[in-house]
Parts: sequence; structure tokens; C-alpha cells
Amino acid sequence: MDIRPIRLDDDGRSVKVIDQRQLPHRLVFADLKSVDDAIIAIEEMFVRGAPLIGVTGAYGVFLAALADPEDDPLMEACDRLKNARPTAVNLVWAVNRALADVLKASPNDRPEAAKAAAARIEEFEVENCRNIGRYGAELIAGIRDQKNGAPVNILTHCNAGWLACIEYGTATAPIYAAAEQGIPVHVWVDETRPLNQGARLTAWELLKAGIPHTVITDNAGGHLMQQGRVDMVIVGTDRTTHTGDVANKIGTYLKALAAKDNDIPFYVALPSSTFDWEISDGREIPIEERNPDEVRYVQGMDREEILSVLVPPEKSPAADYAFDVTPARLVTGFITERGVCRAEAADIRRLFPEEQNS
Ligand code: MRU
Repeated sequence: MDIRPIRLDDDGRSVKVIDQRQLPHRLVFADLKSVDDAIIAIEEMFVRGAPLIGVTGAYGVFLAALADPEDDPLMEACDRLKNARPTAVNLVWAVNRALADVLKASPNDRPEAAKAAAARIEEFEVENCRNIGRYGAELIAGIRDQKNGAPVNILTHCNAGWLACIEYGTATAPIYAAAEQGIPVHVWVDETRPLNQGARLTAWELLKAGIPHTVITDNAGGHLMQQGRVDMVIVGTDRTTHTGDVANKIGTYLKALAAKDNDIPFYVALPSSTFDWEISDGREIPIEERNPDEVRYVQGMDREEILSVLVPPEKSPAADYAFDVTPARLVTGFITERGVCRAEAADIRRLFPEEQNS
């Protein structure tokens, strides 16, 4: 894509983000002029997806340093940023990384130091996605060879595309790289209730990129797997333990169960910033619960207007669990920026030996 979901504005003092709540119907940018704007953009999901939440957090550190570069206010702002959403570990990782760089500078130099740190994190994630694409495309090529050149059918859940990750995406990078190599691919796109990130965002990205795809209901995947119409699953993740348990958008676990039952490879694509090197058991990952109105209402376009309509009886209670955890035993492998590994502590450490002592 020739645009990114986040960028420093031309004035050098504010940040522009795509307001993803309005996609695919409108491509609208929002201005973040303060750390509070950055927090609202993360909480209310103008920006979403683990790597992008992290990069927004890093630019939030820049906005905080512009407003007040002294230690106490800066650290207080960073604490608020880190709490904007609980599940994606990239947010804490990126804010801590930017803050560590900023605190080395004198207060006068902190805004510049923060801006540079945020830009470095942004480019790090872009490069990670590029490499994930390279390694993942090799897996897709292997399946193509077994199918004598027939299209490889890949199922994905939610949106782990460039909107979530700055460029290429994590789960989508192998698909783009494979298509560039001339490998025929077709993507089954789970709609991903309640906020429909698959139907709204992944479908929009794939359409723009000219990748053949079909939007399906969240419950269709198991049926398609039984029919032999899914060759592999590739999903992203918001936090993965160093032992291989995967937190991702609600519904991922059910796809992994169905894939296991049908002997279909289930891959998770992630950059190193999404590994949690401290938590050993996925059941300890905090699972975000959001406003039940996200379940009760569905958003769509009606004659030029974006509308929300109520689905269940007005008085029925609803609950909105945003993520679930897929245990390592259901995961075939991880596609990372350093290569592919099994979902187990020792093989993950083989790729990331510097995390040995954490
Ligand atoms: O609630 P969201 O939209 O921020 O959820 C994040 C996701 O898009 C997914 O869970 C995704 O698969 C992992 S982020 C690359």
C-alpha cells in the first residue's frame, strides 16, 4: 500500500492515523495532538492490531514528551498509555522501549529522542512483516507443490494485515509474498464478529491488493475444512507466551480445534514484539472484555450513511470477550521474522537466544 495506518504529520508535532472504525466505507484520517488523543484512539479502536497499537503507543510517548518532558509527568503518561488496552503485549513493549530511550536524553532533547524512537519501532515492525512474508511464502510454496499448482486455500481470522501492522501485515504477509511469486492463492476471510475486522478490513485490503478471497461467517470454517477446501490456516496474535500459547481474536481457538481435527496446518505469524517472555501459561494472559454494545449492534452502510443496528432483544444482556487463547498443542508452528519454529519454548528460544535469561 502507498499509505500507512499511522504517520507523523507534516507539522512534526502531531500524528495522523486511519480511523479504522469507518472502513471499508470511508477512508478517514484522525489527528492525534496529545497523549490523551493517542489513548482514546487505542481504547476506542481508531487504531487496532497488536503491532499498530504498539507503534501508536510509541508515538504517544512522543506526544507526551512534547507536552511535558519532565520525568514524573512523562512516566505517568506512559502508565496511562500502557493501560489503554490489556491484551496486546506490543503496547507495553513499545512504550517501555521508547521511554527507555527518552529518559537517556535531557528534558529539552526528549521530544526529538521520542520521535526518533517511535520511528525506529515503526520501521522495525515493517521489516519484521517483510521477513515474516518471506518465510511464510516458503510454507505456502510447499503446499502448492503438493497440489500440483492448484490454488492454495488459506483461512484467516480477524485482521492481521497492513492496517494492523503498518505494512504487509503478519498473517497476510506470506499471502502477499506468495502471490508476488506467482503462487495461486485464495483466502477464506472469517467475518470476525463482533467488530467484523475480517469482513471490513481484511477483505478491503485483499480486494485492493487483487488477492482472490471469499468472506465467510465465523462458523463456516469447520465445514470448509471437512470438505477439504482449506489447505492451511494463518492467523496473527496479540500476545504469545514464550511457551507457545497464543492469544488472538475471539474465535481463533475454535478454528485451531477444527484444524487439528482435520489435519490442517495451523500457523501463527508474529513479530518478536508479540512474544511475552515472562508469562509461561496462556491462561494468565489478560483477556479484554469490551462494551457489550459491540455485540448487540452491527455496523454497516446504508445509502451513504454508516449505521448501527440492534440485533438481539433490547433487554437481553450481552457479553463481549475480545480474545481467546489457543494452547500450543494446537499450533503447527510460528512464522517469525527470524524463521519458522515449533510452538514450544526450546524452539522459540532457538530463534531468539537473547531472551534466554528472561
Ligand atoms: O481487537 P483488535 O482488532 O485490536 O484485535 C487484534 C487483531 O486484529 C487480531 O487479534 C489479530 O489477529 C492480531 S494483531 C496482528
